[in-house]
Amino acid sequence: MKKMSPLLSVQRLKVYFPIRGGFWHRAIDHTRATDDVSFEIMEGETYGLVGESGCGKTTTGRAIIGLHKATSGKILFDGIDLAKLRGKERRRRTKDIQMVFQDPYASLNGRKKVLDIVAEPLRNFERMSPQEEKRAVQTLLERVGLDADAAYRYPHQFSGGQRQRIGIARALTLNPKLIIADEPVSALDVSVQAQVLNFMQDIQKEFNLAYLFISHDLGVVQHICDRIGIMYRGRLVEEGLAEEVYSNPQHLYTKRLISAIPEMEPAQRLAKRRVRQSVQEQYEGAYDQFFDKDGKLFDLKKISKTHSVAVP
Ligand SMILES: Nc1ncnc2c1ncn2[C@@H]1O[C@H](COP(=O)(O)OP(=O)(O)OP(=O)(O)O)[C@@H](O)[C@H]1O
Ligand SMILES: [Mg+2]
Repeated sequence: MKKMSPLLSVQRLKVYFPIRGGFWHRAIDHTRATDDVSFEIMEGETYGLVGESGCGKTTTGRAIIGLHKATSGKILFDGIDLAKLRGKERRRRTKDIQMVFQDPYASLNGRKKVLDIVAEPLRNFERMSPQEEKRAVQTLLERVGLDADAAYRYPHQFSGGQRQRIGIARALTLNPKLIIADEPVSALDVSVQAQVLNFMQDIQKEFNLAYLFISHDLGVVQHICDRIGIMYRGRLVEEGLAEEVYSNPQHLYTKRLISAIPEMEPAQRLAKRRVRQSVQEQYEGAYDQFFDKDGKLFDLKKISKTHSVAVP
């Protein structure tokens, strides 16, 4: 049974980065990486945040977990505003939110054994004897499909897909409620991507996890997300059930992302290329219509109970 109140509620979140310049190295302008973004994630739900490179997906994810300070807005987790908490209290609250990173090669410390990598969150939060810790880590490693003796090896001794499993095991140690997965399969071969995605869905059920699944590729997320938010230049331009966004896209930018998904069926490829060209032409022609008279993207408007679009 899903709870009625959301697990995570992001409300009008803005994250601006100063652009410095001039003699005094003052902030002369701002990059509006995340610019007034609101969405909710229910317990056990998978929410996809999708958009092209630089649109602000990672910034949004990092602000939720506290790696970037919010310029303004609220981040309610289990009803408590994380943006207001500091220090110990914040760490205690954000323990229920863990992050899995894009690059399984760079995100695991190569000088540490898998045991120490996976046990690190435990050491920060729980008092366990070395035996208990070892047992906990080995249980998790087996849970993510690795051998228990993987604990004594180093990250470079594993493939990309296996490393991503180690990263996921690490994220699971504290039994979180929400995992923010930032492009978790983008660095992997296509054949391995599907395995890791399937496995993430399995552990989701087992641990009753909610996912914020970040991707630049709508093709990757469409099957695993319950709902999808399309992000463009720091803002959401469309949001809805995955099925709705995928089969009934309303914003031209969403249509463009969909037409960019590679066609697997050789017989359909030519037709798909034509669609892509035609959407691209429409996109270029109608680009001005995305913005109001002040050059701001429109706010989301509901077109059904579950589907919203940023149109005039
Ligand atoms: N620490 C930072 N300092 C200054 N600007 C930043 C910082 N992090 C991100 N930005 C800027 O914010 C914008 C959004 O970046 P972000 O990394 O969130 O995009 P993204 O959607 O995750 O892109 P990608 O798909 O390439 O990962 C970009 O213009 C980026 O240059
Ligand atoms: Mg990113």
